[in-house]
Amino acid sequence: MDKIEIVGGQKLQGSIRISGAKNAALPLMACALLTAEPVVLQDVPELADIRTMQKVLEHFGMKITRNGTTMTLQADNITQFEAPYELVSTMRASFWVLGPLVGRFGQARVSMPGGCAIGVRAVDRHLYVVHQLGANIDMVGGYVECQAKDGLKGAHLSFGPGTLVTPFYDTSTFKPSVGATMNALMASVLAKGRTAIDYAAIEPEVTDLANCLVSMGAKISGIGTPHLVIEGVERLHGTTYAVISDRVEAATYAIAAAITQGQLTLTNIKAELLQNVLDVLTSAGVNIQTAQDSITVSNNIWPLKPVRVTTKEYPGFPTDDQAQLMALMTLAAGESSVTETIYENRFMHVPELARMGAHIQLKDKNTAVVKGVDHLIGAPVMASDLRASAALILAGLAAQGTTTVHRVYHLDRGYDNLVGKLQACGANIKRLPENN
Ligand code: EPZ
Repeated sequence: MDKIEIVGGQKLQGSIRISGAKNAALPLMACALLTAEPVVLQDVPELADIRTMQKVLEHFGMKITRNGTTMTLQADNITQFEAPYELVSTMRASFWVLGPLVGRFGQARVSMPGGCAIGVRAVDRHLYVVHQLGANIDMVGGYVECQAKDGLKGAHLSFGPGTLVTPFYDTSTFKPSVGATMNALMASVLAKGRTAIDYAAIEPEVTDLANCLVSMGAKISGIGTPHLVIEGVERLHGTTYAVISDRVEAATYAIAAAITQGQLTLTNIKAELLQNVLDVLTSAGVNIQTAQDSITVSNNIWPLKPVRVTTKEYPGFPTDDQAQLMALMTLAAGESSVTETIYENRFMHVPELARMGAHIQLKDKNTAVVKGVDHLIGAPVMASDLRASAALILAGLAAQGTTTVHRVYHLDRGYDNLVGKLQACGANIKRLPENN
């Protein structure tokens, strides 16, 4: 186990190349199950979650090789169809193998992912997808067992509130779901006939998966909209596909520039992927300059102005950037508020930021009121989940003195070479063994 030590106060200067997106690469790896031909993915980030997905897919018999950021996957000899608890419980996105396994092979046995630090993380909408497409579902010993002997059949799916209640799901509680939309796409591309998906998630990573499936021969229309139509085809062929850039990584480094009053140019990223975040930063007084594939971030003023933000599904303010923005707002001139509507428990960073001198109060159950302070003070803090860890790093970059972030394995799940990228821009940051 490692820790990260930061001596705050350095203004970041320089440029950072944004890596391929974790939340696109994971489903793109899973969709390689849908063909016996090689799928070549470019710009795959080097992350713990990617390695976990690789283990899950190799467990089924998929061949995976990696050359730098290019990954080649081939599912021409899938010999078993069970995603084991010890892997799925460490990474919820392993559940994204359900759709392609049932869609191509008519069977799957996938462990329920269980919750995580930020919430229950149910999968009822995923079960709804395969059930409505004709699979039999059983829940045995914490595993979802799916059978579709005659293959799946197209259906009309909706992630909006409905009236269907079964032992596995109650559609009256439904809202758009990124993962369930991905499983629906991957389950339906080889189904017999037409599938329509209403209230589909429109996050850029969903669009990326749909575009990759089309490049493999799938027939999908409405891509990028909440209404998708998939015409099932006999089989899919291989492809070479570049993973979309990571909008959450980009937002994190944009906030790093702002909180250190430095200037960073982020390359290999299109501004429209994180436009809402950039608009919020602009309203706080951050200076954002965009070009075709880059974003330059510096401050117009300091301290920044407070903001009021509520997280929403795309294109609203992303829940995955909420903790990072809150770190920035601890130093704004006035009172900000951050309301979290996607997860039930995504404020674990609040007590840790408070240890650094931040003034944050939790109101009702999902709103944090942040009263800006003049400065933060470095302290030992504990990472609890991926994005909370990023928030603590950002606070440490601006704090007076030394901040030590413990349990940084959380960071390794979603940030490729974060310490190296920040060091290259002047941050006084290093990674040490926990007992050092
Ligand atoms: C994806 O998770 C991302 N993960 C998350 O990023 C992101 O926070 C989330 O989308 C929302 O944008 C990956 O892509 C690997 P959801 P996902 O299904 O698909 C509830 C990060 O930091 N829900 O849109 O799991 C769910 O509990 C991670 O990179 C059900 O109740 O998100 C949550 O409250 C964290 N039943 C809400 O919906 C279901 O069947 C949104 O979940 C599915 C979801």
